[in-house]
Amino acid sequence: MKKYTSVHDVADVNELVKEALHLKENPYNYKTLGENKTLGLVFLNPSLRTRLSTQIAGNNLGMNVMVMNLDKEGWALETQDGAIMNGTTVEHIKEAAAVMGQYCDIIGIRSFPKLQNREEDYSEDLLNKFISYANVPVVSLESATRHPLQSLADLVTITEQKPAGKKPKVVLTWAPHVKAIPQCVANSFAEWMQQADVELVITNPEGYDLADEFTKGATVLHNQDEALLDADFVYVKNWSSYEQYGKVLTDGEGWMMTNEKLALTNNAKVMHCLPVRRNVELSDEILDGPNSLVLEQANNRTFAAQAVLKRMLEAL
Ligand code: CP
Repeated sequence: MKKYTSVHDVADVNELVKEALHLKENPYNYKTLGENKTLGLVFLNPSLRTRLSTQIAGNNLGMNVMVMNLDKEGWALETQDGAIMNGTTVEHIKEAAAVMGQYCDIIGIRSFPKLQNREEDYSEDLLNKFISYANVPVVSLESATRHPLQSLADLVTITEQKPAGKKPKVVLTWAPHVKAIPQCVANSFAEWMQQADVELVITNPEGYDLADEFTKGATVLHNQDEALLDADFVYVKNWSSYEQYGKVLTDGEGWMMTNEKLALTNNAKVMHCLPVRRNVELSDEILDGPNSLVLEQANNRTFAAQAVLKRMLEAL
């Protein structure tokens, strides 16, 4: 594997899930694979889970791991080709990525969208430039449009928890939030679920439909109660509008998952990628109750990252 930016970089999703589950049982079996190899993790945005789980994954494989908060500790980065750099940017991505590629065998990078210009964000300009200049395998730690390590961990969690002998109904539901949030987790989850043996239903208020390229093939309903009927898994996530790009169109009253809504489901397991705004996106009663899978998802982040890094190390 030379890059991991979306489900399209994975030859066989089921095999990768199996690999992650195998690593969960045997985390130290490949301790020599990453010997004398360096993993660089570059963050342009905050992180708790991605940062720590990917570090553990690299360590489990015997890698040296370096973390850099490029937004705070690095030089201000220029990404425009041909820019006359007489303003605030100090270092061009051409040199920055190429230099990091000399220091590292694999690089992970997190770069959120600015939510100002849809075309610019959805072109994944920064991630694509980083990949082309780094000249080593690159893992997305969440980009402008996707969060593939999260989605793999989510699919691992669903695989572990699904009811036997049944194709599970998985509902991705929009939830309220206090500010504009990117679409990447929801886009990515929808894209991965289309590759999995599940029935995917997406529910969101009018004006919040995700881009067709991610939801094509899924049922999209604007009535949350209807969508939740008989669900086996409910994935809760806020996202800002794709149509009116980056805008918050409603306060989302009535869309927070509660036990009352859970009663509509098939005693569904409830998922969220975290961090979660308690009693805004998801109620305390669900997060503290027996149906919540949020900690299981976070735990599986390590083995999702380890499966991807293992594939990359094997291809070096
Ligand atoms: N879910 C997730 O990516 O968490 P962090 O933003 O804390 O890494």
